Amino acid sequence: MSKNMKITLIHGQNHKGSTYYAARMVAEKISGNIDEYFLPKDFSEEGCSGCGACLHNGRDHCPHAKKVEVIFNSMLSSDIIIIGSPTYVMEMTAHLKAFFEHLYTAWLGHRPEDAMYSKTAVAVSTGAIIGMKGVTKSLARQMFYLGVPKTYRLSFGVMANSWDGVDSKVKKQIAAATDRVARKITSQKGHPTPGIKARFMFSMLRRFHKGNDLPLFTTDKKYWVDKKWLDNNRPWKNS
Ligand SMILES: Cc1cc2nc3c(=O)[nH]c(=O)nc-3n(C[C@H](O)[C@H](O)[C@H](O)COP(=O)(O)O)c2cc1C
Repeated sequence: MSKNMKITLIHGQNHKGSTYYAARMVAEKISGNIDEYFLPKDFSEEGCSGCGACLHNGRDHCPHAKKVEVIFNSMLSSDIIIIGSPTYVMEMTAHLKAFFEHLYTAWLGHRPEDAMYSKTAVAVSTGAIIGMKGVTKSLARQMFYLGVPKTYRLSFGVMANSWDGVDSKVKKQIAAATDRVARKITSQKGHPTPGIKARFMFSMLRRFHKGNDLPLFTTDKKYWVDKKWLDNNRPWKNS
């Protein structure tokens, strides 16, 4: 992949602690072309209001569309998406979860974007002791359901609540792990393509939409028909 890959780097927190430094480290090792967002500073909305506007009328009808679009458009135009979250009560931060809730109609079964099918993502979490792996798994799941074929996971137990408090041995481990992932990404030939699970899911969803006439999914079905996904076209052919 080219040296000038564009990265969208989303921090699930406003402050610059261990998670910020670990996520920033991997980003800088990949490319200097970084669009960076901090939540809630750059997305201060609460979770999804459940109004159904995006499902029935399109994501541009979401009451929070303007703020969602800024970050989502950046993701769509990037080669790499990096999401960092401190582990909070064994989960990603509430701010990140709130952001992802606003993207549910861009999930595989609804109206996924072609462009997502060629991205590489990195999920980063630090925690004091426990739950970090679960957080990166959860972040990777968000990426999968948005169509991203490959997500690397980096989780670190730092036994600290600030970067200054992190032991130098752990900092070395973080440096080595971020090196490894950055090297894998920069030496990648071309972009990743969907694996068996994503293709299988697509074929199941395609079958669902072929037989689906439910009012709940009218807008989704029209999207699949317009994209010719019920014929022979596939989103990864255009990504
Ligand atoms: C609200 C809150 C919840 C936390 N929950 C966990 C947890 O479930 N597991 C854990 O190991 N550490 C937990 N921690 C500690 C942080 O995850 C840990 O200090 C992390 O490295 C902080 O990252 P930061 O320096 O980027 O803020 C919690 C901290 C806070 C403030």
